[in-house]
Order: sequence, then C-alpha cells, then structure tokens
Amino acid sequence: MNLKEKIREIEDYPEKGISFKDITTLLKDGEAFHDMIDQLVKTIEDKEFDLIVGPESRGFIVGTPLSYATKKGFIPVRKPGKLPAETIKHEYDLEYGSDALEMHKDAIKPGQRVIITDDLLATGGTLRSTVKLVEQLGGEVVGILCLMELTYLKGRETLKGYDVKSLIQYK
Ligand code: PRP
Ligand code: MG
Repeated sequence: MNLKEKIREIEDYPEKGISFKDITTLLKDGEAFHDMIDQLVKTIEDKEFDLIVGPESRGFIVGTPLSYATKKGFIPVRKPGKLPAETIKHEYDLEYGSDALEMHKDAIKPGQRVIITDDLLATGGTLRSTVKLVEQLGGEVVGILCLMELTYLKGRETLKGYDVKSLIQYK
C-alpha cells in the first residue's frame, strides 16, 4: 500500500512556511494503519533486539503496535514531569523550539538491545535525545525507525553511525 497517499499535508501549520505531515488521516484508515505496522516490522525483522523505545506522543502511536507485533517490551520516553519513578533527563532542540525528554532510570538494563521509533525524523533532535537517554543507561541502539523523514532537514546527519530507516521520505 502507498502510505504516503494516506498522509495529509497541511500548509503553514504550526507556522508559516511549514508543511505539516498529518498522520491522523492514515491512522483512521484501519487497513492503512495495519499495513504501516506490517511495513515497519519488515524493516527490522533481521534484527535481534530486546526493547522498543518511543518518544511521546506520536512515537507511542508508532511504537506500541510495533511492540505488540514483535512481542518486545515498550519503553516510553516522556516530556518532563510525566514519569512517576526516578528518571534521567536530556535537553534537546526541536523543529520549532526546544524541550527535554525523560526516561525511567530502570527502564533499560546495560547491554540491552534497543530499537528507537517515532513518526517523524525532522531535525533529528528528538531521536538524538532519545539515543542519548538509551545510551546513558547502557542500552545499545541497534536501529532507529521512523514512518516519515524530511530529508531536506538532514536530521539523518545528526544520527551518524546508527542504522536509520524511514518508510516515507519528503524531499
Ligand atoms: C514531532 C514528531 C517527532 C519530532 C520530529 O514531535 O512527532 O517526534 O517532532 O522533529 P525533530 O526531528 O526536529 O525532533 P513533537 O515534539 O511535535 O511532539 P508530539 O509527538 O507530541 O506531537
Ligand atoms: Mg513527536
């Protein structure tokens, strides 16, 4: 299935000059959503890994069905103050502004192999920050997987040395 056709582009949102990639039109199509997860699973079927890690909130939409399909645990990465137990934190720049992400300190054991997933690779700030959190706990990032990539922002260059895959590219 051509998933790109299912994604709606909204011009000048959230700021003038930005063309927002709206995945809600894909998600509400049950066949398309199912196929999206099947296609993502295919890209990592050659990998051995223990956990899937996804940053809130759209990373949960992609990451949790992937976790279900692969029978691997899911680790949520959240904006500050949302996780109840002891956390580690990493500050990062994002496409519009800056923020920080947190992960539970006991989420990953040293040596565990992790796939990081999100809906979108734009500047790479969110994924890079997630990599830092995983590695701070001694996890090994064996793959980074996203549904969409804005190739013109060159976020991939900030993730050199990692196996970065995307299903859909916007040039
Ligand atoms: C969006 C998107 C990615 C990130 C990509 O998340 O879901 O996580 O931006 O941009 P980057 O590569 O420049 O970091 P956002 O922070 O808007 O929050 P959301 O997922 O909660 O909507
Ligand atoms: Mg996000």
